[in-house]
Amino acid sequence: MLGQINRRRLLLALPVIALALLGLWFGLTGFSLSALDEPGRVETYLATKAKRPLVGRSARGSSPTPPPTDAAAAIKGQMLFVGRCSACHGIDGRTPTEIGRWLYPRASDLGSPRVQEWSDRELFWIIQNGIRLTGMPGFGKLHSDEDIWALARYVRSLGTQSQK
Ligand code: HEC
Repeated sequence: MLGQINRRRLLLALPVIALALLGLWFGLTGFSLSALDEPGRVETYLATKAKRPLVGRSARGSSPTPPPTDAAAAIKGQMLFVGRCSACHGIDGRTPTEIGRWLYPRASDLGSPRVQEWSDRELFWIIQNGIRLTGMPGFGKLHSDEDIWALARYVRSLGTQSQK
């Protein structure tokens, strides 16, 4: 009886202890909510490590089969990109705008090798769902799968352009 009560107390106390430790860590490291500081190496490493498998798993489970590509889809992809994405990623997708550059995390250069490492399905998933806790919005409620594939293919084409 007594043991049970104590265990319950301990369980209730755990979140309080965790919060206190987190507060101590924020206090000691001078943690701030400012978006102006450059994301630190540890933070970037941990966020990237967490993002890869999470996006990978979701993309495997849900992204539909890509439609065949044609010239019309490529033009559509570029047009949609200028309208929906250039405000942060830049008109060429490779030079984030002033706003994109000061988001935290920063809007990505979509032609960079780090971004081009995503598979087609993963790019589709990211554009459809966005990335939580970042400035990257999800477009799944605004655009059809076909439009999102056109965007994903346009992002892919930015990688081949950079190899020139
Ligand atoms: C409001 C700003 C904003 C808009 C608009 C936006 N993005 Fe993003 N996007 C971001 C940010 C910020 C990130 C970085 C997220 C991160 O680091 O995890 C990002 C990341 C991405 C990534 C993943 C790249 C990586 O870092 O691994 C892709 C792909 C992408 N965006 C494509 C698009 C496409 C396509 C559109 C338009 C349909 C779009 N974005 C519109 C802000 C934006």
